[in-house]
Amino acid sequence: MRPVTILVLSSGVPAATIAALAERFDVLGPGDAPEIEALVSSHGARIRGIATTGKARLDRALLARLPALELVACYSAGLDKIDTEALAERGIPLTNSSTALADEVADLAIALMVMARRRLVAADAHVRSGAWAKDAFPLGRSVTGRRIGLLGLGHIGSAIARRAEAMGMQPRYCTRRPVAECAYPHHADARALAADSDVFVIACPGGTANRGLVDRSVIAALGPDATLVNIARGEIVDEPALVEALASGRLGSAGLDVFADEPDVPLALRRLDNVVLAPHLGSATIETRTAMGESVVRSLERLLNPV
Ligand code: DGY
Repeated sequence: MRPVTILVLSSGVPAATIAALAERFDVLGPGDAPEIEALVSSHGARIRGIATTGKARLDRALLARLPALELVACYSAGLDKIDTEALAERGIPLTNSSTALADEVADLAIALMVMARRRLVAADAHVRSGAWAKDAFPLGRSVTGRRIGLLGLGHIGSAIARRAEAMGMQPRYCTRRPVAECAYPHHADARALAADSDVFVIACPGGTANRGLVDRSVIAALGPDATLVNIARGEIVDEPALVEALASGRLGSAGLDVFADEPDVPLALRRLDNVVLAPHLGSATIETRTAMGESVVRSLERLLNPV
């Protein structure tokens, strides 16, 4: 029987995952843009599956050149550059790795929240510099007993809420429609959630639908004692408004793993001492990246055993 041909579209798919795919499939790619272009021109008609990340463009024009495509498996939670509408129109399933990475990203969200509210980066510098011998470190802000607002309650938002509950926090959330059988208070509007939160965690998808959703008015509704945590996508927040609010003290603190123009982070943000910054580390552990790769392989294996 002829092997099933798949295309590794993104160079972000790890070598171990590509090796596991090569044991099962005829694998094309990865490659740079001209190489992918050449592969699609020569073999587009027999490509039945794609392994990719949300960072590689998979648009309507490319999809039109892949008439045999049956499945796309994404090695990330974010589907940023994937035209989900065009896939849905053709009934092509799209899987992502959000189940595999939810706990890891949730751990980081909790870490950023605690670090920002207890000012642990500045506290570390206080000890290292010897300043402790002269001055006590200023008081931080509690986590226990506080309200945590989740903007988005998918796999990642739910994993954060479970951890927050275990820490004695009170979750509430904002989604377009209430989540069935969810006991947390629901808000249909991001500003209303912000006004009802001490900690506001962005855990919704990026993309055009949510670009700028956390605007100046949402940030203003948080206030000087509140903390904003973003482990989702930088584009969801009005970043200049966020920097202004943090610099003026109108927003208390922030823990940020994602930025509007990664890896460029505005100097004004890097200079603030009421922020904790991470270089998009959400899923970045050996264990979780391995599990994400395995989830891509498992998804594509469906092409070998059609039901
Ligand atoms: C993803 O996979 O989209 C997340 O950004 C992980 O950090």
